[in-house]
Amino acid sequence: MKKIVHMSDIHVGFSDYDLRFKRIAERLIENKAVQGADCVIVITGDIVEDANNPDNYKRAKATLDVLKENSFKNILLVPGNHDYGTGSRGDKKFVRIFKKVFYDENFEFPKKDIIDGIAFIGLDSMAEELNWYDKLFAEGELGEKQLLVLSELLLDDRDVRSCRKRVIYLHHHPFKFRPLHQLKDANKLKKVLTRAMHKGISIDALLFGHNHEGNAHNNVWGIPRCYDAGSATLKPRPKILKGTVWFQIKASVRMIDLENDDTAQDRVLTLL
Ligand SMILES: [Fe+2]
Repeated sequence: MKKIVHMSDIHVGFSDYDLRFKRIAERLIENKAVQGADCVIVITGDIVEDANNPDNYKRAKATLDVLKENSFKNILLVPGNHDYGTGSRGDKKFVRIFKKVFYDENFEFPKKDIIDGIAFIGLDSMAEELNWYDKLFAEGELGEKQLLVLSELLLDDRDVRSCRKRVIYLHHHPFKFRPLHQLKDANKLKKVLTRAMHKGISIDALLFGHNHEGNAHNNVWGIPRCYDAGSATLKPRPKILKGTVWFQIKASVRMIDLENDDTAQDRVLTLL
């Protein structure tokens, strides 16, 4: 049974965060409690700081390749607002480039992976945020099309239904409202997930990032594990918000064992 290492908001290209990400990878590889072959790394977006600099994708990919060469073969990731532009201004042209660099340019979100009896479903919360009328700011929107496919995967897909566990992962924080940063269709996502759960299809973990706060929100929507991974590289918020009690940054890279129902056993790894 695989364990999940959940990290987020790496922001390669900001300051020396390329080096911070390399250090995080080295420490994961060196950590005797983390066996790469037994892990699935889930990265919930903002892998790079600015997609307009193609070097950022390349450098992030190089570190992911180091992890893969060191037995972390299963790495799943979804885009954040910074992965499709500057963070506050996106561009559709980056969708294809992101897929090409990190996966395959022809696949569509939701991304389904079945690994050791766990269904991982990755959502693109930037999917409907790149239109001319809403590509500014840092909000997210999954869109009707993606939510419909997600619902079909949960209710009708034999592979997903036959799994022991199901993990949903996306970039935008689905619960905590922040002006100009929220997931616009969070209530629709809630409906899809709760409908599946009412039909006896468990949703065992909901993983996300975006807010950099790194908090657990377990049991919200009835899902036992709901985690914000914070910012693995500790990318700060704008200066104006620094020091405010309600805006603390944490690097909450978590090791999650879905086989263990005791969520208190999920651990935050110290990697910086
Ligand atoms: Fe971020």
